[in-house]
Amino acid sequence: MAHNDQPLEFTAEVPSNIALVKYWGKRDPERQWPANDSLSMTLNAARTITTARLHHDAKEKDKDNGDVLLRADMGGELQPVTGNDKALRHLAYLRRELKMPAALHISTKNTFPSGCGIASSASGLGALTLAAISAWTGARSLTELAASGFDLPRLAELARLGSGSACRSFFGGYCLWTAGAEPESQSVMQVYDQDHWPLADLIVIVSPETKSVSSSAGHLTTASSPLFKPRVAGIPARMRRVRAALAARDLDALGVEIEAEALDMHAVMMTATPSLRYLLDGSVDFLSWLRKEREETGLPAYFTIDAGPNIHVICDLKDTAKVSARINAAFPHMAIIADRTGAGPTLTWRPLP
Ligand code: DP6
Repeated sequence: MAHNDQPLEFTAEVPSNIALVKYWGKRDPERQWPANDSLSMTLNAARTITTARLHHDAKEKDKDNGDVLLRADMGGELQPVTGNDKALRHLAYLRRELKMPAALHISTKNTFPSGCGIASSASGLGALTLAAISAWTGARSLTELAASGFDLPRLAELARLGSGSACRSFFGGYCLWTAGAEPESQSVMQVYDQDHWPLADLIVIVSPETKSVSSSAGHLTTASSPLFKPRVAGIPARMRRVRAALAARDLDALGVEIEAEALDMHAVMMTATPSLRYLLDGSVDFLSWLRKEREETGLPAYFTIDAGPNIHVICDLKDTAKVSARINAAFPHMAIIADRTGAGPTLTWRPLP
């Protein structure tokens, strides 16, 4: 809403997050109720930047509901988004749920390649939720949003309905999403802030191609894997070990757990019907190399992987240069996005001319 009739534009920056304990499988897809608790590290550099304003120009009106959504791939031109798009569906959901009639003009871009396992839907749906609600309410800061009834847990809850992993991007540091005993008792909370233990996440781009099966489609295959039930049964113990390693800032203890956890999720993916294989040959080569380097030279770095071929190498922040140099030397053709534990979302605004 305009303050003193001055139209404003709101920019939400929401980071991606990398899950250390994965969300894979839904008990209730309608209500975005996950099969298990998950825990992630909020990132810093990999983020979505989304700008929204009330739609004042009738000429730009889209035939369906008046919203205009423009998206740019990394470094590319803004293009109109149309059709059965996750973001458009979420915008329509937010409008219905919050009873906000005003049409919005929204533009969005990622600082990283999307759709290849860098949780673009987490930052994307998070930034869309934050920008749209700011434009509708006119709230110019996270504090003003909280005063209007949209504090971070509420924003996280709304973003979760667009993409589950998005709810974990609303807090800095390390974030826990608990499934609860029923869909309504889910919760998202910060476990530690970013200063507790800043870690590096060196995202090794094995392939920037968009994956052929989205995470949302992948979640629906989990029940067909014989490994899914044992995986879910083992999550509480895994979570305790991961949380103990985080509390103790013990990289070796954390590393063992996150590698086993990522492989466990990929085992469920591969043994589902239809079988999903997100890892490419290059991903597997990289994992073998990392393991060998650690065993033979003591390289203090561990991997985790989302639903894509790219590898997240987790190491202590002070070892970033050393670990990156070793990766570059062994895989000169693979780009690295050097990221780290981040502080969570920001909201800014400016008056429109
Ligand atoms: C492998 O959050 O993308 O990255 O809720 O259907 O939007 P939807 O799925 P999404 O799933 C992410 C899965 C994951 C693991 C994780 O981030 O926990």
